[in-house]
Amino acid sequence: MIGMADAKPQISSGLEGVYIAESSICRVDGQAGGLYYRGYSIDSLCKNSDYEEVVHLLLHGRLPKAQELAETKKVLAESRNLPEGVVSTIKHMNGKAHPMDTVRTAVSMLSAYDPEVADSSNEANMRKSLRIISRTASIVATIGRIAAGGEYVAPDNSMSHSENFLYMLNGKKPTPQQLDIMRDMFIIHAEHSSNASTFGTMVAGSTLADIYSAVTAGIAVLKGPLHGGADEAALHMMNEIGDPDNTEVYITEALAGKKKIMGFGHRVYKAYDPRAKVIKTYLLQMQDSSSEEVKRLTGIALRAEKLMIDKLGQSHGIWPNVDFFAGPVYRAAGIPAEIFTPIFAASRTAGWCAHMMEYWENNRLFRPLEYYTGAIDLQYVPIDKR
Ligand code: CMC
Repeated sequence: MIGMADAKPQISSGLEGVYIAESSICRVDGQAGGLYYRGYSIDSLCKNSDYEEVVHLLLHGRLPKAQELAETKKVLAESRNLPEGVVSTIKHMNGKAHPMDTVRTAVSMLSAYDPEVADSSNEANMRKSLRIISRTASIVATIGRIAAGGEYVAPDNSMSHSENFLYMLNGKKPTPQQLDIMRDMFIIHAEHSSNASTFGTMVAGSTLADIYSAVTAGIAVLKGPLHGGADEAALHMMNEIGDPDNTEVYITEALAGKKKIMGFGHRVYKAYDPRAKVIKTYLLQMQDSSSEEVKRLTGIALRAEKLMIDKLGQSHGIWPNVDFFAGPVYRAAGIPAEIFTPIFAASRTAGWCAHMMEYWENNRLFRPLEYYTGAIDLQYVPIDKR
């Protein structure tokens, strides 16, 4: 007998247009191209703030007073060092797994070293969140360091989150430009409302699994090229294009072949992604870079941006997103492509933890429905009669 006994419901493919919760953490204004963390635009945060203050803002709902910020910075700095077991797992996976798989494994592993893992009070979750945020950055830096043939660099607690990240990655202090780029990248990737990975985090947490499980789920969801993985994929595309003069032919042929151009389009933004605008300011400074690679990538990125906007901007609402310009800018800061998405994950831990704690205040298990289109009540056939 064929199923489909019930009338076919309205199915929202990809959950488009479905509201899953109330939240005061983040407003994405898709029509005007605005992004606000707890009411503050990312432009004003990039101009005036730093990642540690943004972490406090996201977790606690307001900007910290001086003493509170000092305390948040202290806890983040003191949590940076990685357990030996985590470092050896990173070494073990090096060269065998994509860095995003290593981040997912290493963050999951951190739970074994956290004595508060089973304490689900809000206070304990707040403390665990800071440890996750701090150590995920150390994990990503260590993955990059070990992949480049280096050894684990012990953190320097006198440095800011962004500076220490680059120090653990490269074994030396960053230049002022590298530091500016890193700080802005950490800020603009920290939060983005109920995107796929945040929703994945919330689904895991809604079962009352602990915060490490929830964040690990978020990392798994972030990996794909339709979400966080688009930054690495966009850079690969630019390398495939090879030369700025090839951009037009490449993009035209790709679109004619119905291929998606990574780093463009968004479910919510039907205007220029404000995060891409922040990154583009760096790109514009790099057009005369002394590095041939950066100059070439910058040329390709700017030409591709113009072409895509002409073809699909106003007409289809497909604009550059946060992942498009990230590649050339990260390369200018000396960061390898394999850790672009892991950096996104390290930054987004702040948003994932904030959402998880907010959702737990009124937790309800996520359990959507599927409309069944298969058969029912079939006669069971023994294996020798099939
Ligand atoms: N290049 C070419 N065409 C596109 C693109 C693109 N990047 N994005 C969407 N389209 C077209 C798509 O082919 C489809 O056309 P048609 O209606 O003719 O079949 C139409 O636009 C709708 O696309 P969709 O995939 O159904 O739309 P969505 O709302 O599900 O997509 C998206 C959002 C981000 C998955 C999509 O734009 C995409 O795949 N972009 C490329 C990957 C990417 O850059 N992802 C990063 C998103 S921002 C970072 C983050 O927060 O994750």
